[in-house]
Parts: sequence; structure tokens; C-alpha cells
Amino acid sequence: MTTMMKAWQFERYGRYDEVLEWVDRPLPEPGPNEARVRTRAVSLNFPDLLITQGLYQARAPLPAVSGVEGVGIVEAVGPGSPFEVGQRVVSFNNLAGMLADCFIAHNATSWAVPDHVSDSQAAALSTTYGTSYYALVHRAHIQPGETLLVAGAAGGVGLAAVQLGKVFGARVIAAAGSAEKLAVCRDNGADELINYQEEDIVERVKALTDGRGADVIYDPVGADLFDQMKRCIAWEGRMLVIGFAGGRIPTIECNRMLLKNMAVVGLAWGPCVERNPAQGAACQQHLYDLLRVGAIDPVIYRTLPFAEVREGMRLMESRALYGKIVIER
Ligand SMILES: NC(=O)c1ccc[n+]([C@@H]2O[C@H](COP(=O)([O-])OP(=O)(O)OC[C@H]3O[C@@H](n4cnc5c(N)ncnc54)[C@H](OP(=O)(O)O)[C@@H]3O)[C@@H](O)[C@H]2O)c1
Repeated sequence: MTTMMKAWQFERYGRYDEVLEWVDRPLPEPGPNEARVRTRAVSLNFPDLLITQGLYQARAPLPAVSGVEGVGIVEAVGPGSPFEVGQRVVSFNNLAGMLADCFIAHNATSWAVPDHVSDSQAAALSTTYGTSYYALVHRAHIQPGETLLVAGAAGGVGLAAVQLGKVFGARVIAAAGSAEKLAVCRDNGADELINYQEEDIVERVKALTDGRGADVIYDPVGADLFDQMKRCIAWEGRMLVIGFAGGRIPTIECNRMLLKNMAVVGLAWGPCVERNPAQGAACQQHLYDLLRVGAIDPVIYRTLPFAEVREGMRLMESRALYGKIVIER
């Protein structure tokens, strides 16, 4: 039996197009509470760009394998794994490792995939929809009839927030940087559209809400956009800090929070799931149920073969894509 596999590995931190190499690497052995999974599909996430550079919250020990979210078939289990050989599972790992022939699935961040969910859907759904679900439900406690403003709304987590916002009965304002991206948001249920490359987002949100502002603001972009959006939040609004795709971590004045009775709420989905696996599993199950009835459906921008991982990363970096890129075997 072979003890080696192929993997998109980086031996030093740097840009994906400089450090990612398709190399031979030992087949990983599952330890306690782990399973080894033969990879079928991996979805790309913005953090992949940061992880190869050593710029993400958690630094993958080198040499590391890229890819944080994958689906495949269990082929070996360690003690304490709930999975069986032959079972299809999806798995998330903050320290990467999925862009390889096989990856290790940890109990707390891995879930069996129901038959009605395709490989691409499973790979595209867990992190983005898990993040947006946790943010809207557990952190913002969004209520039917509230106004939800989503920034970067055509991105991976953004489109998930648009779709889930509608599921939870919110009026969704999608904000993005091009007409093409906004058309995708409209097709995915957004009630109102703002092009923040061309329009003043603060004025538009105020006009759309009779001057009240948005009850919940979902922000995966940060930077200048956060600075603007904090000026169009409603009384008792919740500003969800999801990420900093815009490249700068913003700050906020405490007096602004006091005067608006507002909350600035952070969300780190991976650690949430690791700390409370039962809650994470319940979230995944709810997402699969919503997918079954057609209430949500991940938008796949492009499916690429394993050989074109660098092209997938390039597309993500270019900011041209909407939805998700899935890498399939
Ligand atoms: N908190 C968590 O647990 C969690 C989980 C997953 C992801 N995240 C974070 O959420 C953010 C988005 O992740 P994603 O996978 O959804 O990414 P994505 O699909 O690439 O979407 C990011 C969006 O941000 C906007 N953007 C603004 N400035 C940008 C820039 N300089 N470069 C690239 N995009 C820019 C783009 O929309 P426009 O062109 O329309 O502006 C783009 O659609 C990342 O910061 C990621 O780390 C956080």
C-alpha cells in the first residue's frame, strides 16, 4: 500500500503563485478523534490567500498544505472517530490541509454529508454558510422584519448572508462593487442594491430606511467601507465584524456606540464550532435542511480541476468572482 500522496504544499510563507507546489508528501495517519479522507472536492476561501503568506490568525506549521474546507470519502479512522470507512464527510481545518489526495478530518469540525447534497455543494457550504448563520443567528439575533445590510454581498460569505437573511425574514440590502455582482445578489433574493463604487452607501441606506439606518450590518470587508457603514446603523443596531478583505482592520469610537445604543459584534466561526461541536453540528444540519427545500443554494462561480488551483487563487485575488470556486478531483 502506498504511503505517499500528492498535495499543493508550501514550504515557506509567500504569495500562492510563488510558494504553492504540487509535490509528493507522506500520507497522513489519523490520530485519536480523526479520520483520513480521500478528497473529492475543496472550495477556496479568501483566507487561503492569507494562510500561504502566514498572515492569517493561525499560522500553519511548515511545510503546510493549502485549503481549509473539503469533502471526500473516509478511508481510515483513528480511535474515537464517529465516522466509518466509506462514509462521505465534509471538513474544515483552520490550519489548512485539504488541497491534497487525502486530508485529516477532526471530529469537532467534520460532518457527514447527506445524499441530497452534492460534493460541490458540501464543499461550498460549510464555512461560508456556517459563518453567516452563526453571525446572524447567534451573534446578531436577527429578527423578522429587520433591515440587514450586507457588504461584499456577492462574495462567498456575503452571498450566504444575503440568502440566509431572507430565510430569517429580513429585508436585505446588498452592497457590492459592480453591477454584475449586484445582479447576482438580486437573483439570490436581495431586496435593495447599492453599488458602493458609484453611490454613497450612507446616503443610500438612510434613504432606503426613512433615515433609520440598518438594524444589522454584515461586514466581511472592513477598511474604508466599515468607516462609512458605522454611520448608517440604526438605533440598537448590531455591526457584525466578519473579516477584512479590504486589507485594513478598522476602529470605532466608543461614543458612537453609546449614542446609537449599538453593538459591535465579532464572529470567529471555526473556534465557535471547535468550542461547541454539538451547536456546530446542529447548524450544519439546519443548513442541509434549508438546502433540501431550496431555501439556500451555494453559487458556484467556477469549478476547476486540481491542476488549476493557482488559477482559482488568482481569480479570488482579482476580486472578479462572485460566489465560490470549487476544486474537484
Ligand atoms: N469570521 C469568520 O469566521 C470568517 C469566516 C470565513 C471568512 N471570513 C472572512 O470574510 C472575508 C470574506 O471571505 P470570502 O471567502 O467570502 O471572500 P470573497 O469571496 O473573496 O469575498 C470578499 C469580498 O470582499 C470585497 N472586497 C473588498 N475589498 C477587497 C479586496 N481588496 N480584495 C478582495 N475582495 C475585496 C469583494 O467584493 P466587492 O468587489 O463587491 O467589494 C469580495 O466579493 C475574508 O476577510 C475572510 O477572512 C471570516
